[in-house]
Amino acid sequence: MISQTPSFGDLTFHVQTFGCQMNKHDSERVVGMLENLGARDVGTIEEADIVVFMTCCVREAADIRLIGQVNTMKNVKLRPNSPLSKRIIAVGGCIGQRDGEKLFDELPHLSVVFGTNNLASLPGLISDVLDGCGHRAETIDESKLFPSDLPSTREHSWAAWLPITIGCNNFCTYCIVPYVRGREKSRTLEEIVAEAQRYVDAGVKEITLIGQNVNSYGRDLYGEPRFAEVLKAVDATGIERLRFATSHPKDLTDEVIGMFGSLRSLMPALHLPAQSGSNAILEAMHRNYTVERYHELIDKLRDACPGIALSTDIIVGFPGETEADFEDTYRLVDEVGYSQVFTFIYSKREGTPAASMPDDTPREVIQERFDRLVDLVQQRAYLANQAELGATIPVLVEGASKRDAALLTGKSPKNQTVHAPLPEAVSLSDIVGTIAPVKIDEARTWYLKGHFV
Ligand code: SAH
Ligand code: SF4
Ligand code: F3S
Repeated sequence: MISQTPSFGDLTFHVQTFGCQMNKHDSERVVGMLENLGARDVGTIEEADIVVFMTCCVREAADIRLIGQVNTMKNVKLRPNSPLSKRIIAVGGCIGQRDGEKLFDELPHLSVVFGTNNLASLPGLISDVLDGCGHRAETIDESKLFPSDLPSTREHSWAAWLPITIGCNNFCTYCIVPYVRGREKSRTLEEIVAEAQRYVDAGVKEITLIGQNVNSYGRDLYGEPRFAEVLKAVDATGIERLRFATSHPKDLTDEVIGMFGSLRSLMPALHLPAQSGSNAILEAMHRNYTVERYHELIDKLRDACPGIALSTDIIVGFPGETEADFEDTYRLVDEVGYSQVFTFIYSKREGTPAASMPDDTPREVIQERFDRLVDLVQQRAYLANQAELGATIPVLVEGASKRDAALLTGKSPKNQTVHAPLPEAVSLSDIVGTIAPVKIDEARTWYLKGHFV
């Protein structure tokens, strides 16, 4: 396909990421590895000789989107001075792990498929293709290597994702993640703290500890969860802002709850996926808590940290969901008053237990429930933001707003999006990545607006 084998130094690449924080973190490793080899990161598919898709299959829509995207790539011409005669397209992440070699049947112009445990193999697989192998795939079930052991180029210099566990043992009956990310494995406390310290020393302002269920951190290594210890140890590195995702309600301990409002760096925001407000559905989902228990956790969190911003995930239309079940969910969302709710229509995932549960609720009924819930969510998000009017809050500035270059955008401690104009006599590069106070003049459903003081 090429007359002389080009080296990575001659090539450009682009990584497109779908899905959760795990994929975002893995993408930073992919960028780091390819840059280390000399390839140049470019902003668009058109300019890239190598395009890497980091994929998600948690819902069907994501699958369909990937196939569509990779198919349209057939029509995207290579850049004029590319040393390649054909663009290298690689699919990684959760679809890569799930489908492996099979993807070549569906997408014949694909060059490389790699799984969630095979990040480190990507450069070798690409080299093989450069050397004339038609296409290459590698998906293994387990890896000894944590993705954090690979080189990384972080998306933002001031923020870092820090994986403390990979995989998941919970097997919620609707969820594909345990099948594509494997069993839960924790990193040692020493490794986590060392990485956090490196970030702090490099000027990082915010660390987000990530795992599918950070609350069960350490069970595999120490015989019992030790997440509270991780929080204390990372706080002690001197990091300014500490967050974590995701937290399973069944494993959220009083000790961890107590850290909100008492641990210096821990931000007053928690994402606590409820999934449903009906005990029958929670049981069918294999979530291992009741709605009463969930409410208890919310009460304790608000006692520990009044004003804590709570967010959640809700699935509408799980197999067998009745109108009464849905009303229970609606009531839960109404009673808790979340700052943000991520609402999903149930999507059947082959191979999961829920895929074989009887599911006869008509599509229109599910859609109508979903719309009703989204209305409530928006009202609540609007109310939560109204409470900030007139307040002055410290904002971690991320850069210019995508919609309006004259506006800066950043995050409040409660993780709200905050916009404010760049103050006169301040340059963009001086303010990005710093924490600066903003007085809030306007509160909308999805953002706050104000001015730097
Ligand atoms: N480990 C995390 C994230 C899992 S995926 C957690 O437990 O919260 C993120 C969200 O996607 C889930 O919380 C769930 O609400 C949603 N989700 C997962 N599988 C789904 C499915 N089959 N259909 C619809 N939503 C789903
Ligand atoms: Fe999926 Fe449940 Fe694991 Fe979250 S905890 S990744 S929803 S199986
Ligand atoms: Fe999607 Fe995989 Fe994350 S399926 S939600 S990218 S773990």
